[in-house]
Amino acid sequence: MLKPFVCGNWKMNTTAAEAVALAQAAVTAAQSAGDAVRVGVAPPAIWLTQVVEACRGTAVEVWAQNIGFLESGALTGEISAAMVRESGATGTIIGHSERRSLMGLTDEQVDKACQVALAAGLEVIVCIGETLQERDAGRTSEVVLGQLRAGLASYPSTALHRLTLAYEPVWAIGTGRTATPEQAAEVHGWIRSWLTERWGAAADCVVIQYGGSVKPANAGDLLSQPEVDGALVGGASLDGASWTGIVEAAARTGGA
Ligand code: PGA
Repeated sequence: MLKPFVCGNWKMNTTAAEAVALAQAAVTAAQSAGDAVRVGVAPPAIWLTQVVEACRGTAVEVWAQNIGFLESGALTGEISAAMVRESGATGTIIGHSERRSLMGLTDEQVDKACQVALAAGLEVIVCIGETLQERDAGRTSEVVLGQLRAGLASYPSTALHRLTLAYEPVWAIGTGRTATPEQAAEVHGWIRSWLTERWGAAADCVVIQYGGSVKPANAGDLLSQPEVDGALVGGASLDGASWTGIVEAAARTGGA
């Protein structure tokens, strides 16, 4: 049984003061949940240092939302894996659907970003998920497994302990429309089988998060599904009380 891992993705929200206050709320929630759950927060890059400071000495992990897919150099506006590491953050989200659909991020770039992240000593959460059109066309498994195959094409077996996957159906992100627990469990099962086919038992340590309109009211049901080992949470992670509710729900499930 994997320890549940919940990570708040704050996206392009929060002032510096709000970020620090949310980090403090995450610390309090994590402390009362104890060892039963892993808690991470992914603030905007510009507040990473302050949030690292607010979480110092606690179990709350600080994550970046994105990194550039090159080690360094001509990539205006991006931040590198090494910069994220130097801020004190320990991991980065890669391949969020908003970056895929709005910024044209490709699976090949996801693969490269994983390489630079690992080289810098970071952990990664790699996001995958189908659009509504793809689901309606019956292409969910083809799309999700295709993103895994291409986005993890050169991912090394020696770094599986630093890999988390986040299944985020695009139609459920920020829409208030959550996948049913059964829909989530079905896709998580496919992902788990793919991991085992590719790497065998060595991949058993890979946490598979669900993301898409997770709230305190649905977190318990989702997280108690087989192979749903955690959650990547957008909107509800911006409210201290909602976030605490999700951390508590995750702690209760203790990994299904
Ligand atoms: P949401 O976002 O919880 O607001 O749907 C999830 C995500 O994009 O990671």
